[in-house]
Amino acid sequence: MNINHNIQFNDDKKLIHFLNIQNLSAQQILEILELADTVKSKSLDGKTVASLFFEPSTRTKTTFELAAKRLGVDFINIDIANSSTSKGESIVDMIKTLEAMQCNMFVVRHSTSGIPHYIAEQVGNKISVINAGDGAHAHPTQAMLDMYTIKKYKTNFKDLNVAIVGDILHSRVAKSLITSLNILRVKNINIVGPKNLMPENIDELNVIYSDKLEEGIDQADVIIMLRLQKERMREALISTDDYYKEFGLTKNKIKSAKKDVIVMHPGPINRGIEIDSDVADGPNSVILDQVSAGISIRMAIMSLILKNKS
Ligand code: CP
Repeated sequence: MNINHNIQFNDDKKLIHFLNIQNLSAQQILEILELADTVKSKSLDGKTVASLFFEPSTRTKTTFELAAKRLGVDFINIDIANSSTSKGESIVDMIKTLEAMQCNMFVVRHSTSGIPHYIAEQVGNKISVINAGDGAHAHPTQAMLDMYTIKKYKTNFKDLNVAIVGDILHSRVAKSLITSLNILRVKNINIVGPKNLMPENIDELNVIYSDKLEEGIDQADVIIMLRLQKERMREALISTDDYYKEFGLTKNKIKSAKKDVIVMHPGPINRGIEIDSDVADGPNSVILDQVSAGISIRMAIMSLILKNKS
């Protein structure tokens, strides 16, 4: 399976799956951000969406469910732990079973990179698949809601210094963010964190790397903090005490950034490790705006795809 293979659009160039960001143009991204402002409630009666979360989630799962309900869509939460997969049923048999129940869309989160893409290949154009986060690969709807949040506070993407701080190596959020920010041609993307938490291909990402927090967030318009993704590390790569000392965002360290910097975090937050409560709950924080943006953006993406389905 080639997870970069573009199967998101059908032959008529209509969006049928939402699996990653890299095949979208700047114009397509901006159109989705605009749609998120105007998408109407209760416009898709009669459509059915099933959520398949093989990994825990609070924000993504709940905002997809709220978004679907606001669109008038029937939303089914598949309880994976108590589903027939626990009796050895394969993912393919599970999705064929749900296909027989006339589902129109699957929202899929999995700890293994590429599973949403694999499911999309299995179902073809009959059922749409949205990637709700796969392994350390991609989290495209998170990147879209992050762009939506940035656009709300900052006028022009092309003028922005954006700093992404933390465990880039294991972060699917960071991968989708870097792709989106490059497509939207932001001025600088600064990547900050310990060298052993950086991906090997960092030179190919069109980013500026720094291993010092204050240097990396200097004159930043946007700071995006990430959590240490311990569940994806084979061994402890840094102690949380050392991490906090060097990369934890505090009220004092934020002074290197611009005065009107916005501080973002996709969550879940580990207070006192990557960010202090003073900052997470402070005047520059837009973390809860990101959560709310998740509903609007997911309504926009689901409506864009489902309106094309018969
Ligand atoms: N940002 C994000 O994916 O959070 P959840 O794991 O709570 O969905």
